Amino acid sequence: MPAPFHPRRRLLLSATLSALLLGACGKQSNDPQSQANRVYRVGTDAAYAPMEMVSADKQITGFDIDLLRAIAAKGGFEVEFVNTPFESIFNSLAQNDRDVLISSITITDKRRQMVDFSEPYFEARQMIVTTQENQHIHNAQDLIPLKIGVQSATTGDFMAQKLLGGSNPAIRRFESMPMALAELASGGVDAVIGDETVVRHFLHNNQVGDARKALRLLSDDGFEKEYYGIAVRKGEQELLEKINRGLAAVKADGTYDKLKVKYFGS
Ligand code: ARG
Repeated sequence: MPAPFHPRRRLLLSATLSALLLGACGKQSNDPQSQANRVYRVGTDAAYAPMEMVSADKQITGFDIDLLRAIAAKGGFEVEFVNTPFESIFNSLAQNDRDVLISSITITDKRRQMVDFSEPYFEARQMIVTTQENQHIHNAQDLIPLKIGVQSATTGDFMAQKLLGGSNPAIRRFESMPMALAELASGGVDAVIGDETVVRHFLHNNQVGDARKALRLLSDDGFEKEYYGIAVRKGEQELLEKINRGLAAVKADGTYDKLKVKYFGS
């Protein structure tokens, strides 16, 4: 019976290891040749219409997607979008599974410690979504004794935590925004907190039969302005500069405004 570390096995083992290592290096090679032909893998949680969504023919599309494609065209780099759950999106970047994130990500100080952000590309804010039958809800304070649905690990989640306390079981966390909104429709939560553009889009595209279940949107003065940024791994200076230059160029040549009209109307 061969010993577990028979010399020939050891050789085989080290060959396998170096193949693995080479493979891993290939993924993030710094040699200029492969940098140039490189396709950057972009993580996005495409259940966030009209920002990022999956079309009927199964393509990832939306404002963010068109925007980053336009930026990449200006910057001379290639992108490939990969649907990625929001909850693990920063992790996917840290693990090198993704190279860029565009997913309506709000720039926050805490996130800045984990990733580098582009210049802000979109102004956003949180809104409260509730139903006609919840006429007693007028602002964020009114949510305090109630059940709030949020998409897990989003700024809506952070706002609910600020209101109710981080470990409060009245905060119901969902994997996606559509799931949180479905729970509101079925009465499992009293309200949802989420990004304005996305909840507005949902409201306009989902007519409810039962008038009591019709959605109502509320703003609150306590909800501060937020800005979305495109994220890269910390220290990816060159890539970040390409993104920022591309962003400035699509803003300057009118592409950005055209996309706004395409996805949000005038
Ligand atoms: N703007 C919010 C945040 O950064 C929500 C983003 C959720 N994005 C998404 N594609 N589901 O936390």
